[in-house]
Amino acid sequence: MTSPKRILVTAALPYANGPLHLGHLAGAYLPADFYVRFMRLNEQDVLFICGSDEHGVPITIAADKEGVRPQDIVDRYHPMLKKTFEDIAIEFDHYGRTSSPVHHETSQAFFTTLNKKGLFKKKTERQLYDPASQMFLPDRYVKGTCPVCSYPEAYGDQCEKCGTSLSPSELIDPKSSLTGSVAEWRETEHWFLPLGEFQPWIESWIQSRKDWKPNVMGQCKSWLQAGLDDRAVTRDLTWGVPVPLDEAKGKVLYVWFDAPIGYISATKEWATLKGDPERWKSYWCDQDTELIHFIGKDNIVFHCIMFPAMLHAHGDFVLPVNVPANEFLNLEGRKLSTSRGWAVWVDEFLSHFEADLIRYGLGTIMPENKDADFSWKDFQQRINSELADILGNFIYRTTSFTARFFDGKVPNIAQLDEASLNILNEIEVQKSRVEQAYRSFSFKEAIAESLQLARIGNKYFTDREPWKTNKTDKEHCAITLYTSLQLCAALSLIFDPIMPNKMAKLRQQLGVEARSWKEIGSTLLAPLHPIAEGEILFAKIEDEKIQTRIDALLAKSQLMEASIGTESSEAALAYTEPKPEIVIDDFAKIDLRIGKVLEAESVKGSKKLLKLRVDLGYEQRTILSGIASVVSPEDIVGKNVVVVANLKPRPMMGMESHGMILMSEDRTGKLVMVSSENEPGSTVS
Ligand code: 2FM
Ligand code: ZN
Repeated sequence: MTSPKRILVTAALPYANGPLHLGHLAGAYLPADFYVRFMRLNEQDVLFICGSDEHGVPITIAADKEGVRPQDIVDRYHPMLKKTFEDIAIEFDHYGRTSSPVHHETSQAFFTTLNKKGLFKKKTERQLYDPASQMFLPDRYVKGTCPVCSYPEAYGDQCEKCGTSLSPSELIDPKSSLTGSVAEWRETEHWFLPLGEFQPWIESWIQSRKDWKPNVMGQCKSWLQAGLDDRAVTRDLTWGVPVPLDEAKGKVLYVWFDAPIGYISATKEWATLKGDPERWKSYWCDQDTELIHFIGKDNIVFHCIMFPAMLHAHGDFVLPVNVPANEFLNLEGRKLSTSRGWAVWVDEFLSHFEADLIRYGLGTIMPENKDADFSWKDFQQRINSELADILGNFIYRTTSFTARFFDGKVPNIAQLDEASLNILNEIEVQKSRVEQAYRSFSFKEAIAESLQLARIGNKYFTDREPWKTNKTDKEHCAITLYTSLQLCAALSLIFDPIMPNKMAKLRQQLGVEARSWKEIGSTLLAPLHPIAEGEILFAKIEDEKIQTRIDALLAKSQLMEASIGTESSEAALAYTEPKPEIVIDDFAKIDLRIGKVLEAESVKGSKKLLKLRVDLGYEQRTILSGIASVVSPEDIVGKNVVVVANLKPRPMMGMESHGMILMSEDRTGKLVMVSSENEPGSTVS
């Protein structure tokens, strides 16, 4: 396998507006750290970059909520995030922040280069304005009724009830969330990156990317299919990197323009701290670099389409070779929600469990290809039945037996028998499986194959019954312990990327000096080498400890639900809240009909809307429906759907929708269409 000259790994810059939770770890940071540690063990030149994303509306919202300045928020959370990463053993080469002067200069210079190349389109657009606070409203500051589920408190970028991403123009009756006043449309000028013009290049570049994960490719293709639009890279805000143009006073760079440039600025800062300020260029400007972005799925479009287009347009920088994005992590069967207290914070976790247990527990359930679920009981089970019963047990049996019966030294054997040679061969077999898994970003598999080596060791130990042969055949017993000790030593390196603290401790106990992947499979412990007394590396987690965590999660969530004015019971946690009672006449007002979809097409500029032509038996209608993420236009044509036929026509994206398609949403937020075999026009009651 040919290795690249150097690897530059980035992990999504977390917003400095709150602490880290398990979803963050499982999405981007742990897989990135596993990968980097594996590459470092392989003596690969790898640089690991991250930092705090300190701009954008998420920060100003946090500041508004507390009545403090955005600067206060980022100054509080940046050091907190940095420390949490250290505590969980995520080891960046540099953790920067986007409020740093180097970042401001770097992102302004990037903008200037693109502007001088004449790449931006300057356009006047209509944007919602709050006359009371005299400011243009970012999408998140607009509230109104969701066009998909009719939730009256939907935000201008997303409806938190049905999860649909929206734009303010799609909201019905938009208002300012700051003052509650009716928002007005006003004109403002912005600089746009003409992504549509880049589409042919992006398409061919994405096609040329090898081995991208199907979840990532799938999302890219759906963006490309919908057609790329111009994207504004400036905003009317006071918080952010000022646009470096006199004519753009009062405007800042869009956070998704400046944040990914943060990877470059953080690398510059790293080089300066290393005393070699130009060294960042070898990572960013030399084609021998493999740039890899680790992110969560909500960041795919920015890292696979927008940032590559920016890098390509700029011309001086390398492009990512891979973007191994993970899907989302749910918690106890429900979507994570920090505002509803349905989250487990990393710091809270660390005050009850060691870092390596979290790393392992989350590593085994990572949402690599689809959403995954974290549950406390499953976590306990994995720690107890895998780490304690298999890995820990094997190490403990081996080391304590050596201490008791071989004077704490690696037995000095004359020759290995065939069974033991076969076992030592298994180290090579598992090593290559684990390696393959790491190289293809399959971390769950890497963990499973690593654990398999401990399983093999445990079985070997049990089958050879050294407690008996110790009395009947001392040489046989010595071979068993010699072989088991070599396996333990190999495990201390194989598991190192996942559990660096525990494995360092194990290497210390065994006296393993090797520190590189290539040494796995060689004789790591020479005969008569001293081994420290066995100690339990992984203790079992008691039921009570887990129950306390479950109780704490429920209590916190009930408190938060109460504070945002929703009811809280265990049932309400699992399902959306029941609506208030209605009388039969209320229901009778709704004319529900079966419709057959005759035509369907995507709506340009909207990721979620489909424009449907629906046959209701007695007439045909145009209905705009937010189902593009659930079904493709090809798949829905010919299908029967249930339509709210007497809904007042509603304007959407410059068109009018004459009805609404019924959808069913389960507890995890999964949407499916409601259907019926009856002929078009049939009523539903
Ligand atoms: O989604 C987020 O949390 C963003 N702050 C990620 C930014 S990644 C990069 F572009 F900086
Ligand atoms: Zn909605």
